Amino acid sequence: MSAVATKSVTFPPQPAYDAGTLALKGPRVTLRRPLKSDADDVFKGMNDIEVVKNLSRAPWPYMMHDAVSWLDGIENAGPERTAYPFAIVTGGRQVGTVGISNHGETVELGYWIGRDAWGRGFATEAARLAVGFAFTHLDLEELEAGHFVDNAASGRVLEKLGFAYTQTVARFSKARDCDVDCRMMILPRTRFAAGQNDSEGGTDHGG
Ligand SMILES: CC(C)(COP(=O)(O)OP(=O)(O)OC[C@H]1O[C@@H](n2cnc3c(N)ncnc32)[C@H](O)[C@@H]1OP(=O)(O)O)[C@@H](O)C(=O)NCCC(=O)NCCS
Repeated sequence: MSAVATKSVTFPPQPAYDAGTLALKGPRVTLRRPLKSDADDVFKGMNDIEVVKNLSRAPWPYMMHDAVSWLDGIENAGPERTAYPFAIVTGGRQVGTVGISNHGETVELGYWIGRDAWGRGFATEAARLAVGFAFTHLDLEELEAGHFVDNAASGRVLEKLGFAYTQTVARFSKARDCDVDCRMMILPRTRFAAGQNDSEGGTDHGG
C-alpha cells in the first residue's frame, strides 16, 4: 500500500500505455490499461466487502459510480501520470486490477482479484508483471507494499515476489472506517531481478 522516495511526483510518460496498446503478457494473465467498458467487471469485483475491506482507500459500500469515476480518471489523465493501473485479464475476462501509484515520497503497489477467481495464482502473476513494468519503465530502485495483518493471503503474494517485511504501521481503512495494523514490505530492484533470473523461475524468497 505504499513505497519509497522517488525523483518526481509524476512518472515518466508511457506513450504505449496512453495509446492503449501496451499489453503485459504472462503465462495466464494479460495486463492492459483499464477501459470505460470495464465498469461492470470492476463493480462486480469490488461490490464485495471481502475485497474492499483489505484495501485502504476504496469506499464501502462500493457503487457503480465509483467504478465509472475511477475509469474516467484513468482515461482523462495526462501523459505525466501519478499511477499506472492495469486491468487483469484472463480467458477474455477482467478478474481484477493491479497498479503502481506514485504519491511523491512513496510509491504503492496495489491489487485485488474478484473473489470467484481467488486461489489460482492470478494476483501473484499480475503483480509480478506490474512490478516488472515499474522497474523497467518507471525509474525506481525499490518498491514498498503493505497488507493488513488479517490479510495473510496478500502477505503471501508479496513474499512470493520477493518482498521482505520492514515494519508494522497503523493504516486507515476507508471501508472499515478505522486504523488497521499494516505490515509494510519492501522489494529492491536487485532482489526482484535476481528472482526473475532464478533458474527455477520462482521468487519465493521473502528475504
Ligand atoms: C489477496 C488476493 C489479491 C490474493 O489473490 P489470489 O489470486 O488468490 O492470490 P494467489 O493465488 O496469487 O496467491 C495467494 C497465496 O496466498 C495463500 N493464501 C490464501 N489464503 C491464505 C491465508 N488465509 N493465509 C495464508 N496464506 C493464504 C495461497 O495459498 C497462495 O500462496 P501459495 O501460492 O504459496 O499457495 C485476493 O484474495 C484479494 O483480492 N483479496 C482482497 C483484496 C486484497 O487483499 N488486495 C491486496 C491488498 S494488500
